Amino acid sequence: MQKPKLFTPFKMRGVVAPNRCVVSPMVQYRARDGQVNDYHLVHLGKFALGKFGIVFTENCAVEPRGRVTQGDLGLWDDSQIEGHRRLTRFLQQEGALAATQITHAGRKASSPRQFDKPDEFGPKGAGWQRWQVVGPSALSAGDRYSELPVALEASEMDDIVRKFGEAARRADAAGYDVIEIHGAHGYLLAQFLSPLSNKRNDKFGGDRAGRMRFPLAAARAVREAWPESKPMFIRVSAVDGGGGWDVDDTVAYAQELKALGIDVIDTSSGGLTGVSTALPVKRSLGFQVPFAAAVKRGADIPTMAVGLILDGPQAEKVLQDGDADLIAIGRQALYNPFWPVHAAQELGCDIDFGMWNPEYGWWLDKRKNNLPADRAATGQPK
Ligand SMILES: Cc1cc2nc3c(=O)[nH]c(=O)nc-3n(C[C@H](O)[C@H](O)[C@H](O)COP(=O)(O)O)c2cc1C
Repeated sequence: MQKPKLFTPFKMRGVVAPNRCVVSPMVQYRARDGQVNDYHLVHLGKFALGKFGIVFTENCAVEPRGRVTQGDLGLWDDSQIEGHRRLTRFLQQEGALAATQITHAGRKASSPRQFDKPDEFGPKGAGWQRWQVVGPSALSAGDRYSELPVALEASEMDDIVRKFGEAARRADAAGYDVIEIHGAHGYLLAQFLSPLSNKRNDKFGGDRAGRMRFPLAAARAVREAWPESKPMFIRVSAVDGGGGWDVDDTVAYAQELKALGIDVIDTSSGGLTGVSTALPVKRSLGFQVPFAAAVKRGADIPTMAVGLILDGPQAEKVLQDGDADLIAIGRQALYNPFWPVHAAQELGCDIDFGMWNPEYGWWLDKRKNNLPADRAATGQPK
């Protein structure tokens, strides 16, 4: 039997992902002062035990005012490197590539956790604070929490570009194999791209080339600070959800990113307005896969598909159809951190539990002898 594509390696520059299963970045609101702690190690470590080929941290801010919430991780200070190093060591020891996402949330910074009630702001008694947010223009994201941002001066933008590069240098020092810029979901880079949020009349606004100038400068700074041998991704919102930025714009942007040395486009959508990510883009199973396909074909660059991909056969079809090269799993990984090894069983390619760590797999394989025949045939107790 031919191995499913989902479980074939993927080479990017000097690193090889052992398979195409990726944990999508997911913020946990558990950091203090942006520092990694035991929670992050256990939360992300279990995905490596589940045999995800690439494990992404949540978005890590490049400066404190760029955090989405006060509980986000950071890569804005050298003191944060050691905690990240502990994470990368464990993920790599278990066979995964360690990946991190760096971000500036711009006007969507200083937010509460998404599950906080309207009258609450962050964990009670934890001294949750708000701070002045910034953006391309003095226009709010328009949800119940968003404050009016201060429009950035060109000199401050140079400073943020430099901070993206500095965060990349720290990510490398911490041992990450892959870096991704979070350029989607209405955060700072996406705010510059969309004419709905960027009303500047200097060289960073106006037509598409002007609006792309700042995001491309940030991407260039990261590429220059990030080793040649390591791959760089960028997450984009293929459409902003408000009609200001569309798939054609994303393809043109991806062509520019490719020329800068970006290796993979992680194709999400929406989020320019409101606190949520993909809103107001209509959701259904695999709803963002067509964006990954359009960018892959239009810009001839590898893509990562994400969004309501639930099981092995669905993920395998995306790869077989040539719509994407990598599959990012978000909430389904929260539901089942062992998603890859279960997907392998669904696809019939690991009934002897050979993909699992032997400390688990040897026992589970032996247990098959004690199961009723119909269950033993798949190795799964159901
Ligand atoms: C708890 C949670 C936190 C998230 N945090 C981030 C984040 O830090 N960066 C990001 O780019 N997307 C973030 N997302 C979006 C996911 O990476 C993913 O794109 C989205 O959940 C859709 O994929 P899914 O249907 O597989 O969950 C988050 C999603 C969830 C559920």
